[in-house]
Order: sequence, then C-alpha cells, then structure tokens
Amino acid sequence: MKDFIFSSPTKIIFGKGTEEQVGKEVKNYSNKVLLCYGGGSIKKYGLYDKVVKALKEEGVEFVELSGVKPNPRLGLVQEGIKLVRENNINFILAVGGGSVIDTAKAIAMGVPYEGNVWDFFEGKAELKEALPVGVILTIPATGSEASDATVITNEDGWYKIGFHHELLRPKFAIMNPELTYTLPPYQTACGVADIMAHIMERYFVNEEGVELTDRLCEATLKTVINNARIVLKDPANYNARAQIMWAGTIAHNDLLNTGRGRGDWASHRIEHELSAIYDIAHGAGLAIVFPAWMKYVYKNNINRFVQFAVKVWDVDLPYENLEEIALEGIRRTEEFFKEIGLPVRLKEAGISDDRFEEMADKCTKGGTRTIGDFVKLNKEDIIKIYELAR
Ligand code: NZQ
Ligand code: ZN
Repeated sequence: MKDFIFSSPTKIIFGKGTEEQVGKEVKNYSNKVLLCYGGGSIKKYGLYDKVVKALKEEGVEFVELSGVKPNPRLGLVQEGIKLVRENNINFILAVGGGSVIDTAKAIAMGVPYEGNVWDFFEGKAELKEALPVGVILTIPATGSEASDATVITNEDGWYKIGFHHELLRPKFAIMNPELTYTLPPYQTACGVADIMAHIMERYFVNEEGVELTDRLCEATLKTVINNARIVLKDPANYNARAQIMWAGTIAHNDLLNTGRGRGDWASHRIEHELSAIYDIAHGAGLAIVFPAWMKYVYKNNINRFVQFAVKVWDVDLPYENLEEIALEGIRRTEEFFKEIGLPVRLKEAGISDDRFEEMADKCTKGGTRTIGDFVKLNKEDIIKIYELAR
C-alpha cells in the first residue's frame, strides 16, 4: 500500500428538501453570487424557483449564467468570467450536473487570473487562487460535486481537457435524491456508467496489499449496479436514487484510491476525445471505451480481472482457466451497459472509424506521451482500443 494524503473538505448536505438550505450555506461566503445552470431542466422541474426563493430569503443577490451545454465549452466559461468581474461577485453557485459544476469551477479559476483560463488546462500556468464554488447536484454521475477536477472543451480545435487542483473542491454540495427523479432513463444510465468508470479507473491498479479499498470499490460497484436496475424500473424510488447519488460522490472524491495511487484513467482520456469531437454523453462514451480497454489490457494482470469478475459480477461457474473467468467479467460489464440502454460499440453511437488516428494523436499529444498506469498505452495502442470498440 502506498503512502497518501487524503482531503475531502466538501461539506455534504444530503437528503429530502435540502435545496431549501442553499441561501444559508451561500451566505457563509457571500451576499452576491453567480447562479450558474444548464439548458433549462431546473426551471422545468421547479428547482430554479426554490433556489431563487432561498437566496432572496437570506438577502443574497445573484446574477445568472445559463445555457451550459453537456460537454461544457470554454466560450461560456469566458462569458462567466467577464460577468463575475463586471458585477464584483465572489462566489459561484452551480445548480445542475457535471457540466454546470465544471463551468463554475473554470470560472472560479479564471476570475483572479490575468491571462486566458485555458492556460491552466494546457499546463502553461499554475493555479494560485480560485473563487469558492457551491453546488446543488441534479444528476449523480461525475462526482464533480466533491472532486478536484474540471473538464472543459475548447471549441477552437475541439480539445476536451481536464484540470485538477485541490482549490477546485466545492465548499458545499447539496444533494437531494428527489431532484434526480426527473432524469430521463438515458441520462440516469450515463451517470451510472460514469460512476462505475470512476471506481474501475481506481480498481485496476497493480498495487498489492490494498484489500480495504478493493472491498470498498467492489461494494460501491455492486451497489450502483443493483440500484441502477431498480431506478430504471421505478424512477421515483428514493432509497435507490439515494444509493446511486451517494455512490457517485464516493466514487470520485479520492477515498477509493487511498493507498493505491491515482488510478489508471486511460479510458477517460480515450473517451474525452470522443465526446470532444462527437459530443456524445461522457457516460455513453465510457460504456463503449471501458470494455474495449479491458479486452486490450486484461492479460497484463489477469488476477486483478479475475478478482473483478468474482467479487463484482459473482462469476463462479466452473471455468477451465483464469482467462475464461476474466473474460466473463468483461462480458458481464458490457452486458450490463447494454441492459441499461447504453451503446457499447462506436457504430451504435453513430461514430465511424475515420478519425481514430486523429483522436489517438490528440490523446498522446502528437505521440509524445503515454496514457494510463495499469498499462501504459502509446498512440498505436489507443488506435487498437478504438478498433476494438468499432
Ligand atoms: O442542461 P439541463 O437542461 O439542466 O439538462 C441536463 C443535461 O442535458 C440534464 N439534467 C441534469 N439534471 C437533470 C437533468 N434532466 C432532468 N432532470 C434532472 N434532474 O442532463 C443532461 C446532462 O447534464 P451534464 O451536466 O452534462 O451531465 P454530467 O453530470 O454527466 O456531466 C458530464 C460532464 O462532466 C465531465 C464530463 O466529461 C462531461 O463533460 N466530467 C467531469 C468530471 C469532474 N469534474 O470531476 C469527471 C468526469 O469523469 C467527467 O469527465
Ligand atoms: Zn467520468
């Protein structure tokens, strides 16, 4: 087990009706905030009115930035930075999913910085300061509500890049599972795949002697799988929604990789190229990429894939050899993604095979770096993984 530092300072306010507390929470930081949200789901389902009421009750003024798109764009981040500066705002409230939260985080980084906020994503600047961000979460998926990351797409060249810094962990996250009842089944499923991917990125490491986090990962995966099946049949099942919502945070606040390094993250990098160019939902992209990645790398540490098959998917049939068990675990992962309505091949998502080389090139910065830690992958490897996902 490796040494580690673990800090997850986000205050979690979890449960029914918790959105009503947002005014009080915000007031601990500011009397004037940027209210950041997406394409309108919060208005359609009544959350917007509740947030406005809660802010007004506490005398908190707000300026709005709406229209955040899934796979959020740099252009809107830059608009937000301008708006915050013009209005002397010093707190950002994100009401929505990962795209809204990531936009809020990028604005928070950009406001105190004189240069272009994209510099951080390109590794050209070091983050020294960021405004505080608070969250009301409406879709369990990315874990951005407590993560140190933001992922933004630059429309100029369609580069989708993530940036990590401890300063980006939100101050608070309000999480009411009832707010997720309105999610369309496809978005629910995309969220589930993303949560599973965040756990699997951390699970597939070569570190030995990490039984506690192995068990935590396996338990969280099993919980998400079981409850996904429930909510897809019964969308207003509070307890099942609640299990998934809390799992989404646990999956990505770095608890599950304590003592085992950061994790692999190749599948995420390979997926980000897909959602950058083809604008597919991140979770759907992962449902396609992760099984292909597994098929490509399992031989490098067959025991870990056998453990995954046995502990997560209960594979206990009398298989002839370890390889068969490992492959059965991968097959069941893919079957599950299909079962919850996600594509598992690029062609099912309408993606052709003519840009594999370009995506692999971007992913490896022109072939100058490898990605992944479980197995280090170069440009040729990445092309082969896209081919397996065809
Ligand atoms: O825009 P609105 O109208 O609000 O609709 C959204 C959007 O269309 C809808 N939605 C959200 N909550 C809803 C709802 N519809 C009905 N009822 C609700 N309660 O869902 C759609 C998707 O929203 P989005 O925020 O894009 O989803 P998600 O949370 O999956 O975020 C995806 C983005 O986060 C990045 C992804 O790459 C992608 O860009 N990630 C961020 C990470 C991080 N910051 O730590 C880590 C992840 O690995 C990921 O890369
Ligand atoms: Zn993800």
